[in-house]
Amino acid sequence: MKVGIDKLHFATSHLYVDMAELATARQAEPDKYLIGIGQSKMAVIPPSQDAVTLAANAAAPMLTATDIAAIDLLVVGTESGIDNSKASAIYVAKLLGLSQRVRTIEMKEACYAATAGVQLAQDHVRVHPDKKALVIGSDVARYGLNTPGEPTQGGGAVAMLISADPKVLALGTESSLLSEDVMDFWRPLYHTEALVDGKYSSNIYIDYFQDVFKNYLQTTQTSPDTLTALVFHLPYTKMGLKALRSVLPLVDAEKQAQWLTHFEHARQLNRQVGNLYTGSLYLSLLSQLLTDPQLQPGNRLGLFSYGSGAEGEFYTGVIQPDYQAGLDHGLPQRLARRRRVSVAEYEALFSHQLQWRADDQSVSYADDPHRFVLTGQKDEQRQYLDQQV
Ligand code: COA
Repeated sequence: MKVGIDKLHFATSHLYVDMAELATARQAEPDKYLIGIGQSKMAVIPPSQDAVTLAANAAAPMLTATDIAAIDLLVVGTESGIDNSKASAIYVAKLLGLSQRVRTIEMKEACYAATAGVQLAQDHVRVHPDKKALVIGSDVARYGLNTPGEPTQGGGAVAMLISADPKVLALGTESSLLSEDVMDFWRPLYHTEALVDGKYSSNIYIDYFQDVFKNYLQTTQTSPDTLTALVFHLPYTKMGLKALRSVLPLVDAEKQAQWLTHFEHARQLNRQVGNLYTGSLYLSLLSQLLTDPQLQPGNRLGLFSYGSGAEGEFYTGVIQPDYQAGLDHGLPQRLARRRRVSVAEYEALFSHQLQWRADDQSVSYADDPHRFVLTGQKDEQRQYLDQQV
């Protein structure tokens, strides 16, 4: 039985900052951000969006009544949680109108957690093939103004419906994992921005990729030539390129050129959004499938998921005959229609997030066109609104 990704959809903010303009404001060469980091635009997440609203906005447009009736597992992977106890998935399930007979959980391991959700979901569907699982990676990536990590911020959510006989990608049951205690990136409970040793984290990422990739090839007796393209977690798109370059010696010149060409499609949409933390690998998968004209049903893709701290996983999936039917085709147009904000406006929005305080607060959402918005906090409870009701 085939199990895998049946539908794949993305949501981010309607606002972005231009990376050349940000570089100039930070006294950096624009090409450092555009080429050295590999980012053209960065999503600016307004105070009216958080991990819950982004997740609901990603999932709602792709779900039919039939899907909703079949979903009995909802996993939200996030490292931008809004509560130390209650799962963001509970809020998301309510906003989406899911049944109360659903297992709803939040998963955390930095940028890796959505992959844990995908693997849990595929195992669940293999045991219950008449059921579907909804897995969402949703985050707001924040390092702070004027920090080295600033050009690698962003935010958004990727929603995936996992089912039997999937339209998009049939997932393999084998994967290679690596996990150990590494202090490359973390966020203590009292911090709203991540703490990171940026260069160290980039090196650990490469080490982890090489380890799980080679281990996968060895343990599954897979030739790298059978992989049409490699898709990466992309905290910034140059990161994936560095990882890809590190394994090019394993294949011949023709295959190297193919992998590099495919990679340019895999990073196309991430280049316009920035880091998504948990959703990043799956936005890259969506970018690959939406923008790469040389892909065909039957092609096998390799996926590398990485979360600092650290955990890495490599697994593969095979493109299905009707894969275009499960994709978010409106996405390139939505990204093109976003409003560009100045660096000053971005800095103001960055600083005006809902504060981690007990008092009642309200958030301006009048300009936010998304269906689900955060309107504030009352009696220490976050207030969410469905603008379509
Ligand atoms: N034109 C082209 N490239 C340029 C350039 C220019 N004018 N100026 C600099 N660059 C290149 C550098 O050579 C470097 O490339 P390389 O990584 O291939 O060597 C790249 O731009 C980045 O420059 P660097 O000086 O290393 O940047 P930085 O010290 O300001 O920080 C990060 C870069 C990624 C470490 C930082 O943004 C960060 O900490 N990000 C968060 C952590 C993260 O994303 N980790 C990833 C693993 S999860």
